[in-house]
Amino acid sequence: MEADHLTRVFSRGLINKVENVAVNDISLRIDDENPSITVIAGESGSGKTTLASMLLGFMRPTSGEIRYQGRDIYSLKGGDWRAFRRNVQPIFQDPFEVFNPVYRVDRILTLPARLYNIAESEEHAMELVEGALREVGLRPAETMGRFPHQLSGGQRQRITVARAFLLKPKVIIADEPVSMIDASLRATVLESLRELKTELGISIIYITHDLTTAYQVGDAIYVLYKGSVVEAGNVEDVVQEPSHPYTQLLMGSIPVPDPRVPWGENFAQISSDDEREASARGCAFAPRCPHAFERCEIESPPHYRLEDGRAVKCFLNEDRPITHLDSLLSDDLGSNTA
Ligand SMILES: Nc1ncnc2c1ncn2[C@@H]1O[C@H](COP(=O)(O)OP(=O)(O)O)[C@@H](O)[C@H]1O
Ligand SMILES: [Mg+2]
Repeated sequence: MEADHLTRVFSRGLINKVENVAVNDISLRIDDENPSITVIAGESGSGKTTLASMLLGFMRPTSGEIRYQGRDIYSLKGGDWRAFRRNVQPIFQDPFEVFNPVYRVDRILTLPARLYNIAESEEHAMELVEGALREVGLRPAETMGRFPHQLSGGQRQRITVARAFLLKPKVIIADEPVSMIDASLRATVLESLRELKTELGISIIYITHDLTTAYQVGDAIYVLYKGSVVEAGNVEDVVQEPSHPYTQLLMGSIPVPDPRVPWGENFAQISSDDEREASARGCAFAPRCPHAFERCEIESPPHYRLEDGRAVKCFLNEDRPITHLDSLLSDDLGSNTA
C-alpha cells in the first residue's frame, strides 16, 4: 500500500473562506511482504484521524493518491473494492460506535465471517469466532452471548482485535486503539497487535498521541505536527535521539524512555504554551522552535535524510541530502522489522 503526497484541506466559511490543511503532503509505504508496525504519532488535531480515514478509503484526499496493489483505491469498484475493504481493516478508538448494539457478540463476529466468505458453514463460523476470541484473551463461553453494552471498554476493544484475527486482513489501521482502555489492560491489546504482525503477517498502522505505546509496539514512526511529518524513522533511533526540534521538545523531559510515564501528556503541555501563528509560507513549527532563524519564517523546509535513514523536516540538517519519505520507508525501515 502506497500513499503519495496526500493532502487534505478543510474549508470553513462561505465568504471569508478559511482553509485548514489537516494533512499536508504525507507519503508512506506499507510493504505486505515484510510486515511491520508503523506508528503515526501526534498531538490532538495534528491530522491523524484525517490521514487514517483517507488510507481506509473513507475520505478522498484533496490531492495525492493512495494505491493498493498498484491501483488507486478511490477508483476501485465491485469485487476489487470489496477485496480492498477486506484486506485493509480499521480498528477504531471506541468500537462501541461501530458495533450494532442489538447484536450479540457471536453475531457481530459471524456476520463479517459470512460477508467475506471466510466460513464454509454456520458451525465453521462459530469455530472461527471462538478461536479468534481466545486469541485475544477472551473466554468464548462468557463473551459470545453478550451485547456490546454488557462488556467493558477493554473487552469491546479486544473484540475488534478478534475481528481482525478472524478476517486476516493484510493491513490494519488502528486509530488510537488503546486510548479508551485502562492502563492495566493496554499491554494485552498492544501485545495482540504485535501477534497480528508476527503470527499472521499483518502490517499495522498504529495511530497514537501516546509516545510510550509507540515505543512499545512500533518499528517505524512518523511524528506529525500540524498535518506534516516532521520526523520519520526507526522508532528506537527517533525516540532515543530525536533530531527535529519538535520531537526533541516532546522527548526532552524524559531522556530515557520510561514505560510508566505517558508521554502523551507532553503533547498537551507543549501545545498550551504557545498560540502564536506560523507564517503561511514558513515552517509550521517555527513559532515554537528554540532554533528558528529568519529563513524558517519564509520558507518551508524539505525532508533531509540522516545517516540512519530517518527523514527530518528541518533546515538544521541542510548539509544532508534531501530525500523523499516514500523511498526512505521502502529502502530502510522495512528491513529492520523482522
Ligand atoms: N470533517 C471535518 N471537517 C472540518 N475540519 C475537520 C474535519 N475533520 C478534522 N478536521 C480538522 O482537521 C484537523 C485535524 O483533525 P484530526 O485529523 O481529527 O486530528 P487528530 O486525529 O490528530 O486529532 C483539525 O484541525 C480538525 O479540526
Ligand atoms: Mg483522531
